[in-house]
Amino acid sequence: MPAIEVNNLTKTYRVYRKREGVWASITGLFRREFKVVEAVKGVSFQIDAGEMVAFLGPNGAGKTTTLKLLSGLIFPTAGDAQVLGFTPWKREHAYRRRFSLVMGQKNQLWWDLPAQESFRLHKEIYRIDADRYQRRLDELIDLLEVRTLVDQPVRELSLGERMRMELIAALLHSPDVLLLDEPTIGLDVVSQRKVQEFLKFYQAEQQITVILTSHYMKDVEALCERAVIINEGEIKHDGPLADIVDRFSLHKVISLQFAGAELPPGLDRYGTVIEARPPRAKLEVPRQQIPEVLTALLAAFDIEDVGVHDRPLEEVIAELFTSQSSRQAEHESTTFVKSKVLRR
Ligand SMILES: Nc1ncnc2c1ncn2[C@@H]1O[C@H](COP(=O)(O)OP(=O)(O)OP(=O)(O)O)[C@@H](O)[C@H]1O
Ligand SMILES: [Mg+2]
Repeated sequence: MPAIEVNNLTKTYRVYRKREGVWASITGLFRREFKVVEAVKGVSFQIDAGEMVAFLGPNGAGKTTTLKLLSGLIFPTAGDAQVLGFTPWKREHAYRRRFSLVMGQKNQLWWDLPAQESFRLHKEIYRIDADRYQRRLDELIDLLEVRTLVDQPVRELSLGERMRMELIAALLHSPDVLLLDEPTIGLDVVSQRKVQEFLKFYQAEQQITVILTSHYMKDVEALCERAVIINEGEIKHDGPLADIVDRFSLHKVISLQFAGAELPPGLDRYGTVIEARPPRAKLEVPRQQIPEVLTALLAAFDIEDVGVHDRPLEEVIAELFTSQSSRQAEHESTTFVKSKVLRR
């Protein structure tokens, strides 16, 4: 039996529009206008126990909504989900003890108290036995290197330190399913890597089932072998992450800042100009050509600053959609031609 099984899960929100003016707000009391937002539209997937799956997609795709449904925070409009045999929105206590949701954009710890106090509260809520609690807490504190910080009010911690505390709180009761919604958002590269390393180690050791959403390819590459891509509430791709990584690593972006106020002419000879904001420009260049293109650029122009970056994950995913739809169109047109030929 898979750990997570989702069938035709659908969530629509009604968003009420405020009309302008006093008269409108009075009549609005009687006839409120609303629009329907289809956040998740008939999503289906299965995740086996011990799998770590990336949930990718642009802003507003429906990732957080899906995780909220799986956590039982909201009710679906239609469809079904089973997590460890539980229906999440029934909110059974037995289910609450088996999963955790971590949201990078939300603080779940007491802001004015040391993290230690929030951990103690968790111990009570989840009725964790005292010995077990102490052992787990020690283990997690060591793994996340926060020994000196647990007695400091959470509001005094850096974003990266706070996120590590959030992870401890989420894992104290040893959940079997961990839902991570952008756990590294806003973190610097070092903190980001710490969180990745911890998650990798922890998952390998405990074999828990994880869904991870992130806008950073680095997180996903470090942790997941499978990626589910969601866009406009629908699943567009579900398969090995390698499919996406290959595409992702074909090109890199060179950012340049030129010494003058203008951009020099002929930049497109070095790569695809994807942004031109004098005196800055960005070029997309095939990965293997980066060294020679950089050398040529530095020799040809007066450059003040230069950087090489990965392409944004969103862009690669968007490309995947368009290439799939164009492949589909191609397929359709060939069948069309064939049927014409056959008819003759
Ligand atoms: N409580 C709500 N009320 C109304 N609309 C909502 C609500 N929550 C989400 N939505 C809408 O549902 C859609 C999906 O939102 P969701 O938060 O799931 O996206 P996401 O994939 O997590 O995006 P992001 O990458 O920006 O976090 C969006 O159009 C959003 O505006
Ligand atoms: Mg989100």
